[in-house]
Amino acid sequence: MEMVIGARNVKQLLVLLISGFVVLCLYRSWAYTEKVSYSYHDDKSGKVYNAVEQTMSQYPDTGSENLQGAQRQIKELEKKIKDLEKRIPQRYPDVKYLNYRSRKRILVTGGAGFVGSHLVDRLMMAGHEVIVADNFFTGRKQNVDHWIGHENFELIHHDIVNPLYIEVDEIYHLASPASPPHYMYNPVKTIKTNTVGTINMLGLAKRVGARVLIASTSEVYGDPEVHPQPESYWGHVNPIGPRACYDEGKRVAETLSYAYAKQEKVDVRVARIFNTFGPRMHMNDGRVVSNFILQALKNEPITIYGHGKQTRSFQYVSDLVDGLIALMASNYTLPVNLGNPTEHTIEEFASMINQLVGKSSTIKQVAAVEDDPQRRKPDISRAKKYLGWEPKVPLMAGLRKTVLYFEKEIQRATQEQRNFYRPEERTFSSLQDLK
Ligand SMILES: NC(=O)c1ccc[n+]([C@@H]2O[C@H](COP(=O)([O-])OP(=O)(O)OC[C@H]3O[C@@H](n4cnc5c(N)ncnc54)[C@H](O)[C@@H]3O)[C@@H](O)[C@H]2O)c1
Repeated sequence: MEMVIGARNVKQLLVLLISGFVVLCLYRSWAYTEKVSYSYHDDKSGKVYNAVEQTMSQYPDTGSENLQGAQRQIKELEKKIKDLEKRIPQRYPDVKYLNYRSRKRILVTGGAGFVGSHLVDRLMMAGHEVIVADNFFTGRKQNVDHWIGHENFELIHHDIVNPLYIEVDEIYHLASPASPPHYMYNPVKTIKTNTVGTINMLGLAKRVGARVLIASTSEVYGDPEVHPQPESYWGHVNPIGPRACYDEGKRVAETLSYAYAKQEKVDVRVARIFNTFGPRMHMNDGRVVSNFILQALKNEPITIYGHGKQTRSFQYVSDLVDGLIALMASNYTLPVNLGNPTEHTIEEFASMINQLVGKSSTIKQVAAVEDDPQRRKPDISRAKKYLGWEPKVPLMAGLRKTVLYFEKEIQRATQEQRNFYRPEERTFSSLQDLK
């Protein structure tokens, strides 16, 4: 009997002791648990991340000391991360953030070409999603390679003579060879690109309800009898001459645009682009700017076709891009001339380039080219009135940048530099770095 009572008492005592120990443990863990919250400031995005919580229950006795130590370590680590980040070259140029309402999905046909690639840069920097469709006939991947892999950018190897089924909000339709040697190389293909290709783009615009801007040309005025050329001038084009595949192709592209606008209610814009120059233009496109700069850089005679008194007006590519974007954004639907009205004779132009390059190439006159227009100068009053647009870049400033670009291209063409291009070595801080 005594034995039973003794064992029961011991059992009760043990239960009492265990319960007391558990209560003590719970109290200590509650009393020494500290909550830590801190905020992290991301310099790049400018965002502040708050309320990250940690419990320090594993250090019951030295809670506040450990907390301070941990905060110090976090700060040191943050500094190290920033230092390391500075050493990584920025892979892409800085792009504005647009929310889903203002961000558009934009197709640029011919976006790997000279004008197209500058337009792509501007649209990307503005924060839009850009899709380039190009068959690389005269364009090159290198013109847009700084965007390849960016989440807002897509490059499609596509010939616009075939239909394209994608969803977009806007279409800049620039695909077409633009310089005489290129568009005369395969005249039938040039006509197909400007007719069938334009039908495909207008059809796509109709299907998805996109606004479409057609890149037309001052060549629709042919060898003009009116000077300067207003948009109301109908032109003077030889329909069976060597340039007809391009001139008439673009005239049909305009006709198609207004037929789709009238019949299918497609929202169209038509830009009549005059001579444009700048970095990324073709080295051997056979046009005045590239010919003269290359000849002057190589110290060869500058070749003038004909007497040299024929005039041209040249616009810098960034001015054209401003005009294209302003036209797309406007409510104006008739054709608009985009060009620089400052006129120069070809002779004057040759001596300006000689002066810029700093060499003294001689001038060599050769026979005039068939159907070469004698005078070309845009009347830009419509663009001024409806788009508030006019060119800003002075000819000499634009030519200086273009000469630099040609110099680099000539260097790149040397044997040692070929295939020796490492994109990861490039860093960007502004649009200027892309040129
Ligand atoms: N640069 C100028 O001075 C000028 C003047 C008047 C009009 N334009 C017009 O502006 C546009 C762009 O001219 P650019 O100077 O940039 O010429 P570019 O030759 O550099 O660019 C044209 C682009 O279109 C692409 N392309 C051609 N045919 C295609 C096809 N069938 N399918 C898909 N892609 C195709 C080429 O590969 C190239 O990337 C053209 O429509 C041109 O007619 C240019």
